[in-house]
Parts: sequence; structure tokens; C-alpha cells
Amino acid sequence: MMGSTKNHYQLVLVIMYVCICNSVTDRQIQEAVRQGADTFGKVSSELGVATCCGQCEEHAREVIEDACGTQHPIEISLISMA
Ligand code: FES
Repeated sequence: MMGSTKNHYQLVLVIMYVCICNSVTDRQIQEAVRQGADTFGKVSSELGVATCCGQCEEHAREVIEDACGTQHPIEISLISMA
């Protein structure tokens, strides 16, 4: 669209699986923290994170720690399509 002055944006929401065994995403963990699950044990009990192979535990703990520290709403990135 050469010469167009309109800006077009695409909403990009990146969702990452933290626990593959139990199909748990970083967003689900962040929401659990927002709802009061502020420890690894609470999140694991609620979502089942790290209850199978355990490979996700370290990353899950990082996501929980970040979520406990920030408590911000979901960030939204806008990418210009112009
Ligand atoms: S990846 Fe989370 S228990 Fe296996």
C-alpha cells in the first residue's frame, strides 16, 4: 500500500508452553499467581506443573518468580504492518 497514511497493526500475543507434559503455558502460571498461587507448590498443585517428568520445574519457578515480582497485566506487543 504505497502512499497510504493508514497504520495497520497486528496484535501479537506470544504464549509459551512451560510444562509440555501437562500443557501448561506461561500465561496460565501468571494467572494462577495473580489469583494467589504465589509459590511453586501452590502453582504445581493447581496446574500440575512439574508433576510428570519434572523437566519444567526450573523454568516454572522462574515464571512464578517473575510474575510475583511484576504483577502486571499481560503485555501486548504491536507490530506495524505498514
Ligand atoms: S514438562 Fe512439566 S512435568 Fe514434564
